[in-house]
Amino acid sequence: MTVDALAGAAYIAAALLFILSLAGLSRHESARAGVVYGIVGMTIALGATLALTVADAWGGSGATLGLSLLAVGVLVGAAIGLWRAKVVKMTEMPQLIALLHSFVGLAAVLVGWNGHLSHASIPAELVDIHNAEVFIGIFIGGVTFTGSIVAYLKLSARVSSRPLVLPGKNLLNVGALVAFVVLTVWFVLDQQLWLLVAVTLLSFALGWHLVASIGGGDMPVVVSMLNSYSGWAAAAAGFLLNNDLLIVTGALVGSSGAYLSYIMCKAMNRSFLSVIAGGFGITASASDDVDHGEHRELNAEAAAGLLSQAQSVVITPGYGMAVAQAQYPVADLVAKLRERGVDVRFGIHPVAGRLPGHMNVLLAEAKVPYDIVLGMDEINDDLASTSVVLVIGANDTVNPAAAEDPGSPIAGMPVLRVWEAENVIVFKRSMAPGYAGVQNPLFFRENAQMLFGDAKERVEDIIRAL
Ligand code: TAP
Repeated sequence: MTVDALAGAAYIAAALLFILSLAGLSRHESARAGVVYGIVGMTIALGATLALTVADAWGGSGATLGLSLLAVGVLVGAAIGLWRAKVVKMTEMPQLIALLHSFVGLAAVLVGWNGHLSHASIPAELVDIHNAEVFIGIFIGGVTFTGSIVAYLKLSARVSSRPLVLPGKNLLNVGALVAFVVLTVWFVLDQQLWLLVAVTLLSFALGWHLVASIGGGDMPVVVSMLNSYSGWAAAAAGFLLNNDLLIVTGALVGSSGAYLSYIMCKAMNRSFLSVIAGGFGITASASDDVDHGEHRELNAEAAAGLLSQAQSVVITPGYGMAVAQAQYPVADLVAKLRERGVDVRFGIHPVAGRLPGHMNVLLAEAKVPYDIVLGMDEINDDLASTSVVLVIGANDTVNPAAAEDPGSPIAGMPVLRVWEAENVIVFKRSMAPGYAGVQNPLFFRENAQMLFGDAKERVEDIIRAL
């Protein structure tokens, strides 16, 4: 059997393993197996690609140099990847993922350029298709590259997360798409190098503008959307490199990323089209200078007092619980209250934290039983009959303005209606706003009290007081 045939078989096996991996990752119980399928699939894919590359290059001119460069690249890349994955904090995952998407985008741009410059022998009847592939690959890759860089800068707070609102921004985006179509046709008819330069610059500018136009509150959707774009960029590169596995894997990533973006848009009541079109229809929001009145504070002992008299408690965690790593004392507090016969449950908002499922992972880590961890829709109607809600490091996800103020930048986003409970205790360090940058009127409600300080320390104080 030839190396080509073996590699083809290995690619089919790897593609099947990737599909099994995605299926496994969709449920808690099978997630671990899903990860293993993914690792095995990727190992097979890498092995087959290396074997193909070595077999192709062996004995050719410059083979030793080419293969040595490849080996150094793979080793250095793998070492950096391993190191970053080891040191990254869970709360920094979104920006790391955004950065990784930018590499996929850049790779697709380089593969596109190489596809044009390498003058590989292409059958005459396929030349036009090849040229279109080059152009489309560079375009999708370029948008993914700069879009992901802006997402990285916003998520790591290196630039402001406010949306950039240029005059006529929708027209700019549509104009860029029209220009892309015109340039593609032109390039297929006449392969001038300046056209490739033009489409590269155009795609860089469009990617930058699309993501810069999206505000902080919609960034979770942007990350999964860029994930989807990176998949399509990889698929485009697969066509150019004539690599079936890259096409299949790219399509899997592209479509699953698009579907995840769609689910997240639904969870946040955002228009999917508006978000993928770079905040189409979003205008600058009114300034947030309303006087909400005075907030009230309580200390850990008073919080313990409220909890010891409560019949039912709901905990709504958010990003701050992850920052404080408060999940372990929270699990202890839950166990203590349950021993006393208090009905304790968790209410998880679909975008609480900085990654889908972020809170579920933290609570599972701290061995909180799955059956008391409920989704927003499962718990929302019970909040009005709850004695105490503990809002632990959550903010946007419990903001009544989303439900009550049509002018708010997060208007219409479904939220946990914690303000309907008898008592609300909000754990945070200051009166600072949450991720979307909007003030939270919950903090000024009659039934709400602030427990200031690091969430982990405050929960430990409550356990001591109990
Ligand atoms: P946020 O609205 O970001 O609020 C987190 C709160 O935690 C802040 O008000 C902060 O207040 C507090 N906090 C931070 N460190 C703390 C600590 N050590 N101890 C106690 N409190 C602490 O969080 P959320 O309610 O989870 O909402 C998530 C937001 O992130 C949404 O806007 C969502 O769109 C966005 N987002 C979500 C995702 C996904 S997919 N889940 C991805 C990216 C972005 P202080 O600074 O005053 O302490």
